[in-house]
Amino acid sequence: MTDVEQLKDQTRHVWSLGDYVKLAARIEGAARELVDACAISAGQEVLDVAAGNGNLAVLAAREGAAVVASDLTPAMVELGRMRTETEGLDVDWLVADAEDLPFEDGRFDCAGSVFGAMFAPRPELAAAELFRVVRPGGTVGMANWMPEGFQGEMFATMNRYAPPPPEGVPAPSEWGREAVVRERFEGLAGSVEAQPRSVVWRFADADEAWSFFGDSAGPSIALRESLDEEAVGRLRADFVELVDRWNHASDGSVEIEAAYLLVVARRPG
Ligand SMILES: C[S@@+](CC[C@H](N)C(=O)[O-])C[C@H]1O[C@@H](n2cnc3c(N)ncnc32)[C@H](O)[C@@H]1O
Repeated sequence: MTDVEQLKDQTRHVWSLGDYVKLAARIEGAARELVDACAISAGQEVLDVAAGNGNLAVLAAREGAAVVASDLTPAMVELGRMRTETEGLDVDWLVADAEDLPFEDGRFDCAGSVFGAMFAPRPELAAAELFRVVRPGGTVGMANWMPEGFQGEMFATMNRYAPPPPEGVPAPSEWGREAVVRERFEGLAGSVEAQPRSVVWRFADADEAWSFFGDSAGPSIALRESLDEEAVGRLRADFVELVDRWNHASDGSVEIEAAYLLVVARRPG
């Protein structure tokens, strides 16, 4: 198995852990922003890539779009399928890799990914696939955590406790830099617009924030499980320091604006 395949196996495992529904509920605002920025509307064919349990898919289906949702992690696809069935929404779900989408060229009006395709290890393949599956003149949308924001710094903190990624695999949050997006979309996009946005995290205190990510975010859960007690203690101290540095609440609670880049690009017509 190649390093990249191993990494993808690990991705499937990691994102099967914990209660992702809790995390998805807190980042739904980013899916709303992307649906609006891409002008997703009734009658369009829309693909949610690395859909998780389908925040973008659900909102697009509620707009009246015909929606396909895909994710590398079978457990996520199951979660998403249950969600859209429960809500009575007509969304087709399938397991698929953002680097190798099983759709014909030009099938969709819009392909979008919220904090999802950014995690594919070979960004040039993910970018090419996003554009390949939209029709000429169609839209590619992404929401990508920014490296200099709270979330980007949280990933960097976690990386200090984890084995390094395989050689040549860039940090996912590189997708949060406008210049990098433009470079990766070179030759694929006719136009690219990028705007900074934020998800607001609100917690009673830093302890609640620590527990939240430890219950709901697969990568945080996997990392903590891999560390001994002493290392978990150091990670927790680093996390609390990070939270304190970004917190702008003045009443003892936690309120953090976690920056992401909202990207809307068009395939040339
Ligand atoms: C933070 S979650 C975001 C999920 C969802 N888009 C949302 O907004 O809630 C990241 C997702 O990316 C998926 N993922 C990671 N690498 C992937 C890849 N190469 N292809 C498809 N999905 C991938 C994971 O399985 C996980 O569901």
